[in-house]
Amino acid sequence: MNLTVIGTGYVGLVSGTCFAEMGNNVTCIDVDKKKIDALKNGTIPIYEPGLEPMVKRNIESDTLHFSTKLSKHLENCDIAFIAVGTPMGDDGSADLQYVLQVAKEIGKNMVQPLIVVDKSTVPVGTADKVKETIQKELDLRNLDIEFHVVSNPEFLKEGDAINDFMKPDRVVIGSNDNKSTQKMRTLYSPFFRSSMDRLITMDVRSAEMTKYVANAMLATKISFMNEVANICELVGADVNKVRIGIGSDSRIGYSFIYPGSGYGGSCFPKDVKALKKTAQDHGYKADLITAVEDVNDKQKMVIAKKVVNRFGNDLKGKKIAIWGLAFKPQTDDMREAPAIYIIKDLVKRGAEIQAYDPKAMQEAQHFYLKDVPNITYFNSKYETLNGADAMILLTEWKEFRSPDFGELKKQLNYPIIFDGRNQYNDQMMEDLGFEYFQIGKK
Ligand code: UDX
Repeated sequence: MNLTVIGTGYVGLVSGTCFAEMGNNVTCIDVDKKKIDALKNGTIPIYEPGLEPMVKRNIESDTLHFSTKLSKHLENCDIAFIAVGTPMGDDGSADLQYVLQVAKEIGKNMVQPLIVVDKSTVPVGTADKVKETIQKELDLRNLDIEFHVVSNPEFLKEGDAINDFMKPDRVVIGSNDNKSTQKMRTLYSPFFRSSMDRLITMDVRSAEMTKYVANAMLATKISFMNEVANICELVGADVNKVRIGIGSDSRIGYSFIYPGSGYGGSCFPKDVKALKKTAQDHGYKADLITAVEDVNDKQKMVIAKKVVNRFGNDLKGKKIAIWGLAFKPQTDDMREAPAIYIIKDLVKRGAEIQAYDPKAMQEAQHFYLKDVPNITYFNSKYETLNGADAMILLTEWKEFRSPDFGELKKQLNYPIIFDGRNQYNDQMMEDLGFEYFQIGKK
């Protein structure tokens, strides 16, 4: 099929490239000319395992193209995906200005029947707004061209996005038109080799809602476990054991119940807020969803509090090493990363920070921690520890999983570790002579 994907951010670029990999003819569009020029040469703006070789391969096989001109690429297009950003507005709702701008552009330029797909995460009712916007432009042009708006939310995890797209747990297609549903099924069927059961079709509004509910549910699991971890500490229980104890119940399951320093990233914080706002707009006070967010905000500061409990409020003269800045491993993304909040708090109390992350240091230096003083960045995990009074682990990168603890002791002034991701066995740490603080166990 001929596909146009509008927006070459994380979602658009991964989706477009994977569709091309399946043999479709894909053009990815973006208004950012510099980005498009770079992409044409196979240079990708984000770190995502496996994406760069796939982009290059598909450029070479002529299945993947990049352009800034949407008008030109609607001429011969079967399906147009809207994958532009929906940043959080001031009131917590998703800002639809970019989505609706693209809809307008489509309406101004489309010349043949088209399926328009909302791929961006958008609140319930957005497909109707996209439809109205396109129709208005067609009316202005006195044209009667058939088009349908379909909702097809993405469920990609950063760091594993290629895998999630190529071998999806499920694909949700929200469509109120049978022919469009059929076409979308045809597009996605190569991704389901054995069974099509996981290609789930429904009405547009339910599909829009599904995306928010999936993320809110996962965020709820995390906040629930973080709250449990805090209670465990108070009553003298070990959350790591409790986690295993409850996960063995198949109704609960082991996944997504790891306590830590709170969830971050581009999706959970934004989507939880947006769902709360949607409920509020309809006169409903979403108490549980509000609590999920509150617990997460507090959880981000739990490790900083442990540092203060150990060293006191005044951290002047203290050097603290940080292992991990990204909101999770396998990404350079620092959006809403707990590291931002923790480092700012420690610096405010006078601490000097020595930081290392395998991928996110550029993001930290140039954007998220740009204006924060007293941070020095190092190129290796051991160098970062040199002369520090303690180390805080904030992202569970594999390279932090089983470090040379002898080297850690040699480099640190004091063998003190605050673990925001519960990566090590506390008995082992004690035997090795570390003062080891973790989440959910005193
Ligand atoms: C998430 C969803 O998983 C994905 O389906 C959706 O499309 C986008 O949002 P992502 O933001 O890439 O993906 O990250 P994910 O791997 O889900 O982790 C989110 C956050 O939860 C991270 O900060 C992670 O550290 C935290 N987390 C996850 C926990 O604290 N505990 C867990 O048990 C699992």
